[in-house]
Amino acid sequence: MKVKKAVIPAAGFGTRFLPATKSTPKEMLTIVDKPAIHYNVEELIEAGIEDILIIIGRNKEDIANYFDRSPELELFLKENGKEELLELTERISNMANIHYVRQKDAKGLGHAVHCAKTFVGDEPFALLLGDDLVYATTPCIKQLADMYETYESTIIGVQNVDKSQVNKYGIIDGLKVGENLYEVKDLVEKPSIEEAPSNIAIMGRYILTPDIFHMIEETPPGKNGEIQLTDALRRLNQQKEIYAYLFDGKRYDTGDKLGYLIATVEYALRNEELSEDFRSYLKKLL
Ligand code: G1P
Repeated sequence: MKVKKAVIPAAGFGTRFLPATKSTPKEMLTIVDKPAIHYNVEELIEAGIEDILIIIGRNKEDIANYFDRSPELELFLKENGKEELLELTERISNMANIHYVRQKDAKGLGHAVHCAKTFVGDEPFALLLGDDLVYATTPCIKQLADMYETYESTIIGVQNVDKSQVNKYGIIDGLKVGENLYEVKDLVEKPSIEEAPSNIAIMGRYILTPDIFHMIEETPPGKNGEIQLTDALRRLNQQKEIYAYLFDGKRYDTGDKLGYLIATVEYALRNEELSEDFRSYLKKLL
C-alpha cells in the first residue's frame, strides 16, 4: 500500500529557541528565504504525498496564514508587474492539500500524533517532526515509504549519532537485517549515555500505521511527564515487527540555536543566488 498522507506536529512551544519563539512558531523560523516548515512540505510533495495534516497549538496561526492565499499581496504584485514574485506567492498556497487540527493541551509528541487519528483513518502515514530538516538526493520520507512498500510495517528513520548525544534522542536497539536496515528490538526515549542500548537515533521521520493510535491511548506519561511516541512504539513493537532505516541525507535540528545556524549556513551555501558571494564572505571572515 502506498503512503499518501502525512502528519507534521507543530504544536510545541519551542523553548530551546526563546525568545524568538515567544510569538513566532519555531516552524516558521526562516532558513535562508523560506520557513523551516516549507522545506518539510516540499519533502513530502517530492515524495508524492499531498494530503498533509499540520497539528498546531495556540499562537500557531502564522503557519496556516503562510500556506493560505494572500489576496492583498497578490494584487500588489500584479499591479506592480512583479510576475515572478506573484507566481512564487501563488505557488505556496497551491502546494498541497493542507489541513489543520489543534492540539488543545501540550501533553507531548505521542498526544500530538493522536490528534491525527481521524485524518489518518485506515492508512499508513508519514510523520515528519517540524524541527528536523533533511537534505537528501532522494527525499528522506520517500526512502522510508519505499521501505514500507516492501515490509508493510512501521519504519523509523534513524542515523548514528555521537555517543555523547544519545540523551537528546529516541534510541533504538536493533538487529541488522539489511545494508541499512535494522529490526527493532527495543526503543528508549532520551536515555542517559550509560543506559543507551546503541547510538542509533530516531531522526524525526517515520512511516506509521494506524495501530499506533491504540498504543498511544494505552501509553502513560513518560519522560518529562509527556506522552512519548517512542513509548507507544515500544508497546507496538511487543506485538508487531518494527524496522529502523538508516536513511541517506544530512539532518539538521533547526529547533536548536546551533543546529539552526548550521542549517542556515549550509542551505545558503547551496543556494544558487547566494552561494558564491556568501562563500567568499565566509572565507574572508574566517
Ligand atoms: C523527538 C522524539 C525523539 C526523536 C527526536 C528527533 O524529541 O521524541 O525520539 O529522537 O524528536 O528530533 P524532541 O526533539 O521533540 O524532544
